[in-house]
Amino acid sequence: MKVLVSGATGFIGQQVVPFLQGLGRCRILASARDEAKLQELGADYVVYDLNQEPHDCYERLGRPEVLIHLAWEGLPHYQESFHLDRNLVNHYRFLQSMIAQGLPSLTVTGTCYEYGLHNGCLPEETAPNPTTCYGLAKDVLRRRLEALQQQHPFRLRWLRLFFLYGPGQPERTLMAKVDQALDTGQETFDMSGGEQLRDYLSVTEVAALIAKVALQPRYDGIFNICSGQPISVRRLVEEHIAARGGRLRLNLGVFPYPAHEPLAFWGDPSRLRLAVAAFEEEQHHAAHP
Ligand SMILES: NC(=O)c1ccc[n+]([C@@H]2O[C@H](COP(=O)([O-])OP(=O)(O)OC[C@H]3O[C@@H](n4cnc5c(N)ncnc54)[C@H](OP(=O)(O)O)[C@@H]3O)[C@@H](O)[C@H]2O)c1
Repeated sequence: MKVLVSGATGFIGQQVVPFLQGLGRCRILASARDEAKLQELGADYVVYDLNQEPHDCYERLGRPEVLIHLAWEGLPHYQESFHLDRNLVNHYRFLQSMIAQGLPSLTVTGTCYEYGLHNGCLPEETAPNPTTCYGLAKDVLRRRLEALQQQHPFRLRWLRLFFLYGPGQPERTLMAKVDQALDTGQETFDMSGGEQLRDYLSVTEVAALIAKVALQPRYDGIFNICSGQPISVRRLVEEHIAARGGRLRLNLGVFPYPAHEPLAFWGDPSRLRLAVAAFEEEQHHAAHP
């Protein structure tokens, strides 16, 4: 199976590509704009800027059977209007062209920010109500792709990712800052109150889940990519410090809770489990025909 991974050099893409390579049954093509980073992946690649005119994009990108679309520009800056003015417009134009030119199966990474300020356990049917330009752009992109399915019968898997940590995490993220504090021998660490409940997975787990949902043959639609296990941010940080055998006194309450996030929310992974089971079943049949 020919699989194209857009945004392959990013935090998540760098883990998706090796997972796909490990399966041993995919021809993988990675794409992004920075050729030096693409070379480091050790996969076939095409340098491609999706802001350019997409008239022959499907051909140039190797006529894949599956596109795992991870690319997105300008993260985080969640409230900046470029998510709507530029990203939404250009990503839809690119994806629409790929589909019109023959792409049969598309998997796109959305975000839990599409849900907005709902608290509690969130199944995929929860009405989206984004409060950030980023969440709104992703939600509108999904709706436009669903409308496009009326014209072109392609398979669409829309993945709402929750929170991630792990190798390659951007320096701005909480867990990267905890690691920096431990690495530099700081004694204290300033953070929020830490009582907010979140749904975290390691980036390696998320990458495997993205690939499994994209490649399984049975289920389309929206999937939460989540653990289903809420954890307080304070406990997450404390467990990480303990796992590293470090010592760091937490200065809780220095920073306010983010206004664009509810205090306690996590994903319902029921649909995700069905898709993963369908993937495992197919893997088993491929190994034992
Ligand atoms: N990280 C998270 O915690 C998280 C949570 C929820 C959802 N997501 C979603 O998951 C996806 C991947 O996130 P990430 O954290 O891996 O992002 P990232 O580290 O910022 O990587 C973005 C990727 O997109 C590529 N890209 C950006 N603009 C491009 C363009 N114009 N043309 C072609 N490629 C372009 C980048 O490479 P170049 O700059 O070289 O082109 C890079 O490979 C995104 O859609 C994001 O919204 C992430």
